[in-house]
Amino acid sequence: MLIGVPKEIKNNENRVGLTPAGVAELRKHGHTVYVQATAGLGSGFQDAEYQQAGAELLPTIEDVYATAEMIIKVKEPIQQEYALIKEGQLLFTYFHFASSEELTHAMLERKAVCLAYETVELPSRALPLLIPMSEVAGRMAPQEGAKYLEKPLKGRGILLGGVPGVKPAHVLVLGGGIVGTQAAKIAAGLGAQVTIMDISLNRLRELDDIMPKNVSTVYSNEYNIREAIKTADLIVGAVLIPGAKAPHLITRDMLKDMKPGTVLVDVAVDQGGCIETCRPTTHEDPTFIIDEVVHYCVANMPGAVPYTSTLALTNATLPYAVKLANQGWRVACLLNEDLQKGLNVVNGEVVYKGVADAWGLPLASVESVLKPMPTPVA
Ligand SMILES: NC(=O)c1ccc[n+]([C@@H]2O[C@H](COP(=O)([O-])OP(=O)(O)OC[C@H]3O[C@@H](n4cnc5c(N)ncnc54)[C@H](O)[C@@H]3O)[C@@H](O)[C@H]2O)c1
Repeated sequence: MLIGVPKEIKNNENRVGLTPAGVAELRKHGHTVYVQATAGLGSGFQDAEYQQAGAELLPTIEDVYATAEMIIKVKEPIQQEYALIKEGQLLFTYFHFASSEELTHAMLERKAVCLAYETVELPSRALPLLIPMSEVAGRMAPQEGAKYLEKPLKGRGILLGGVPGVKPAHVLVLGGGIVGTQAAKIAAGLGAQVTIMDISLNRLRELDDIMPKNVSTVYSNEYNIREAIKTADLIVGAVLIPGAKAPHLITRDMLKDMKPGTVLVDVAVDQGGCIETCRPTTHEDPTFIIDEVVHYCVANMPGAVPYTSTLALTNATLPYAVKLANQGWRVACLLNEDLQKGLNVVNGEVVYKGVADAWGLPLASVESVLKPMPTPVA
């Protein structure tokens, strides 16, 4: 198959859809990989590394879209890319269609085959192509929190791990899923006293078994949260209710019960946030202060560490990309139910219920689009 890797052109996006290692793997399977010049630079991969791995470099994004049968990238195509997409071209990337009607209509019009990373789903219901970014954001949360706890950055001026003879900071983590677990682990590793809260008792049991001694688990309810915020120095919001807005576990009135200089890192801000006073911020201007409480609410935290994020993402996407290239999208999706769940928009039809519901569009069955194309009669 002819595979294309364009350079991401969305503002501040430094990740890339395929690493040189990924190129080598696809080449091993007999595929041709075209990489746009400088596509990997933001993640620290030089053109020469791609060439050594067997990629052919193309000078422009137009060349990549015009040449490839399958495009592998990171973010959804933006307006400048719409016209470059060819009918029947397979796009393997994040789309988040339910948050953009314009993108949905553009992909329907282009008659592309859109396989969305975010809806690829395992039988366990886990989302294997979202997990790596939650892992990155979760591990970043205490790192960012520790930074903003410093006095010059308006925090309480407390060192997360304390020192001998001085108590460490108290870190409260709301939600013990992927983000929360990783955040708790890193905060505990830095020596903080960590409390992790969840509404799933089973999850709390698992965490209690695997976490170090300086992490305690507490059931999440309003009473317990109100108590914990009084002593917390850093609070990490990591709650998710699938398909719904995050609940506001910390309401505005609770800020007055916190110590001045407390830092809130609301990782769940991309789902509306679990702290009422949070609103999305950017890496250029990540924080704001309300009632002497520092709010960090960057909606794309992994964007700050593109090297790690690109490797983490492509470790997860590459095995699927190899299947798509080896078998073609129809056979690959027939044989792999997890990949099949990634099909959102195919040849001018919406095949994913969440997207059809979001924009009031008709829903075609996945089975209908997976039927082999009729062979043209000579
Ligand atoms: N800001 C970013 O850059 C970024 C990056 C990655 C993920 N995220 C977001 O982080 C959030 C968490 O993602 P995840 O992968 O950890 O999800 P997850 O499903 O693995 O974990 C969510 C946890 O929240 C728990 N929960 C639900 N209601 C709760 C409540 N009332 N109190 C306490 N816990 C509760 C669930 O039981 C679950 O364990 C999501 O909104 C995700 O989109 C943000």
